[in-house]
Amino acid sequence: MSYLKMTDLDLSGKRVLIRVDLNVPIKKGVITNDKRIQAVLPTIRTAIKANARVMLMSHLGRPKEGVFEEQFSLEPVVRRLSELLEQSVTLVKDWLNGVDVEMGQVVLCENVRFNVGEKANDDELAKKMASLCDVYINDAFATAHRKEASTCGVAKYAPIACAGVLLDGELTVLNKVMKNPERPVVAIVGGSKVSTKLALLGSIIKVVDCLIVGGGIANTFLAAEGHPIGKSLYEPNFIDEAARLIEEAKEKGVDIPLPSDVVVSDQLSDEAEAEVVLADQVADEEKILDVGSETIKAFKKIIKNAKTILWNGPVGVFEFEQFSKGTKELGKAIAESSAYSVAGGGDTIAAIDKYGLTDDISYISTGGGAFLTYLEGKTLPAVEALETNKED
Ligand code: 3PG
Repeated sequence: MSYLKMTDLDLSGKRVLIRVDLNVPIKKGVITNDKRIQAVLPTIRTAIKANARVMLMSHLGRPKEGVFEEQFSLEPVVRRLSELLEQSVTLVKDWLNGVDVEMGQVVLCENVRFNVGEKANDDELAKKMASLCDVYINDAFATAHRKEASTCGVAKYAPIACAGVLLDGELTVLNKVMKNPERPVVAIVGGSKVSTKLALLGSIIKVVDCLIVGGGIANTFLAAEGHPIGKSLYEPNFIDEAARLIEEAKEKGVDIPLPSDVVVSDQLSDEAEAEVVLADQVADEEKILDVGSETIKAFKKIIKNAKTILWNGPVGVFEFEQFSKGTKELGKAIAESSAYSVAGGGDTIAAIDKYGLTDDISYISTGGGAFLTYLEGKTLPAVEALETNKED
């Protein structure tokens, strides 16, 4: 990783444009989780302390470009940001032709995705953004997988482009876990589909000593091993891929322990009755909805012996009490373990929040898609743009 960092620069008096990811969940005008706002505070405070003129820009949701829509306005975000910074932050609606901001002051530019050309990484738009600043800082790790005007193009035209504290921190942690982890390394990858996590599974077996799969992914693996899975969620078209991954893992000496028992039901609802059965005794009308108690015991032992843990995706349908035990118990085991643990992804963070495990996971990424893209070993366009600017 070769990019400039904001902490390498003298920002005093400079017009600093910081791309942050303040894409937070909002229900009826109320922010329901402000973790992404909290995560960029160190960067903003660093810029304020340096006496920079601070302009923030972010997207929120996926509005139609060229049309202002109240539901995608950053208005609720600017209120929360002012509270957290204990300093007034102004929301600027029309900002592309210039922004007034004093030294030590902070303004927030309205949703970048209201601008035509943002998603297409339009050159003219990127130039306008770049002309607002002396220094462009990208601190939006969660949007680093998007090639957009505010994440990529602007870095090309800004006089100086560098990484913020959060972006650099995320990349440092993920780089260490993927390239130089303390062993044994255990990954827990859950979720509904093998197809959406195929690249992740492929890159992860090159790194880990043990891969625990959960959810629909585990069902496809079970089917690939010839187990009956009844009416469980799985992907018949990916059975061959699952079998190939199992084979590849074996060749590399990577363990993929499949559940020995599972929680089943014939329906998925609040009233559903759950039953634990052996993995080879799932009946035709049953669905696998969680891992069973023997499996939990075995997986907990693996987690306890790990030195590095990577967690992405629940192992059961944890939104329903009857099918939540696997995710809850494994989450608790990760939190209690002395291993360095890294977690990321929307459902994983929801589970961590639900079971109050936040403080005991070593690192929780702010990224969903960006987190996966990085772990898949792919380039993050926004990071590449910073590296290119440095070379110019
Ligand atoms: C996210 O929530 O994953 C990021 O903010 C990116 O949002 P997007 O998927 O709408 O680009």
